Amino acid sequence: MDKIQFFDTTLRDGEQTPGVSFSIAEKVEIARQLEKWGITVIEAGFPAASPDSFEAVKLIAEAMTTTSVTGLARCVISDIDKAVEAVKHAKHPQIHVFIATSPIHMEYKLKMTPDEVIAQITKCVSYARERVELVEFSPEDATRTDKDFLLKAVQTAVDAGASFINIPDTVGFTQPEEYKAIFEFLIANVKSDREIIYSAHCHDDLGQATANSLAAIRGGARRIEGAVNGLGERAGNAALEEVAVALHIRKDFYQVEQPLNLSETMNTSELVSQYSGLPVPKNKAVVGGNAFAHESGIHQDGVLKNAQTYEIITPELVGVKHNSLPLGKLSGRHAFTDKLDQLGITYEAVAVADLFEKFKKLADKKQNITDADLRALVSGGQTVKNASGFTFASVKFDNSKHGEHTAIVTLVNQENETYETTATGRGSIDAIFKAIDEAFDQEVRLLSYMVDAVTDGTDAQGSAHVVIENPATGTIFNAKGVDYDVLTASAQAYMNANILVQKENAQGKITTIHAHDGIKM
Ligand code: KIV
Ligand code: ZN
Repeated sequence: MDKIQFFDTTLRDGEQTPGVSFSIAEKVEIARQLEKWGITVIEAGFPAASPDSFEAVKLIAEAMTTTSVTGLARCVISDIDKAVEAVKHAKHPQIHVFIATSPIHMEYKLKMTPDEVIAQITKCVSYARERVELVEFSPEDATRTDKDFLLKAVQTAVDAGASFINIPDTVGFTQPEEYKAIFEFLIANVKSDREIIYSAHCHDDLGQATANSLAAIRGGARRIEGAVNGLGERAGNAALEEVAVALHIRKDFYQVEQPLNLSETMNTSELVSQYSGLPVPKNKAVVGGNAFAHESGIHQDGVLKNAQTYEIITPELVGVKHNSLPLGKLSGRHAFTDKLDQLGITYEAVAVADLFEKFKKLADKKQNITDADLRALVSGGQTVKNASGFTFASVKFDNSKHGEHTAIVTLVNQENETYETTATGRGSIDAIFKAIDEAFDQEVRLLSYMVDAVTDGTDAQGSAHVVIENPATGTIFNAKGVDYDVLTASAQAYMNANILVQKENAQGKITTIHAHDGIKM
């Protein structure tokens, strides 16, 4: 059976999700988890986009031992130089070069004729191939490209030395049968004396990314590109966990091997959710909180008699662990760190005392601390230090005047000095956010605010998510806060989002090139 290659672009296309921005350290940690998960190739970034993007690709290239690392480059020599430089220390380096081939992209975005695009493919793919052995070429917006021109572009890239041909459904336009036929057509007509691997790259605008990726495999694709939790531009990329589990469960139908260590799926999904600040929807296939919940009496009855009546995926398959050893208030520090290690949760050694104290406080209020509680405690319970070294300390209320809500927010600096701001609002949240606005004294636009419970039960911890925009630059930031008290969680989340805006304002807006920008030659 053929083995399918999995190409993860969480750190490149996934980071193009509005509001998502990983730090370099987070990218390296995610890459390590992707390697553990069994990903074949990590697209670690777009090195020409910014110095940070370059640095992240370089560090990931140096850190990976089995997984290949690639960097994205437009069909421009300077982009390719940067990508080559960034991946040069990888054990298994690759380069990914792309240029748009659809009429609308060539005319309006690139302002190039089809002949100029073909000439650019020859020049850039051969330039990349002279420097790195494995080159992937993508004709961007391939699914809206004239079929004969697509064949010409792909043949040109193959002749220039590309070993991987990716067919991006850039705008999520194609349908499964149609996409499959494109692969069959190219595989039947492209001429080459060496093996060419075809790759699928699907966006989810019409909700077909997973179905299209699977159809591509039926059409002969042997590499699948996507992102964890379906992150990505607009509606996102194909969710790799969905494609992998579909290939596993329906091996009888697809007759191919998927490469992932599926029991690492949940850890991977949770890590990406934590660092992206985007919660996984409860009804999301494979990794959603309800994926293994059975609500109706008939279903529950069936599952009790034989789980397979309604459960085609077992929780164990994707690494959902049963809480075999729940922690409680009598658990010691050793049991606590042991459990974090068991769950694959990474934490800084210096933060253990602080985390353990938070755990003890939570255990005083909640009888059983679940795995989800622990993940939330480590991921969202912390507040990042702002530029002046402040961390969030507490929020109190003075509701003595009837109908008015007054919040008193206390921040603490590195010298342990406290700083208090007070504000009155129409409700508790309004008052808290206004008090924090006062502390930061900067303009922000609140785009969304959401509170959720980490676990079931009335003693659950609250998790708050805030999305704010920096009006000065238009950048969108996601931030999270977790606490036993939802108001404190909300204050933490809003403060964390403000810190990100403050950092951006302090550094000045970094102008980056985006993956879909035109080519400036
Ligand atoms: O969706 C797309 O076309 C891309 C390319 C850069 C491959 O992400
Ligand atoms: Zn894409």
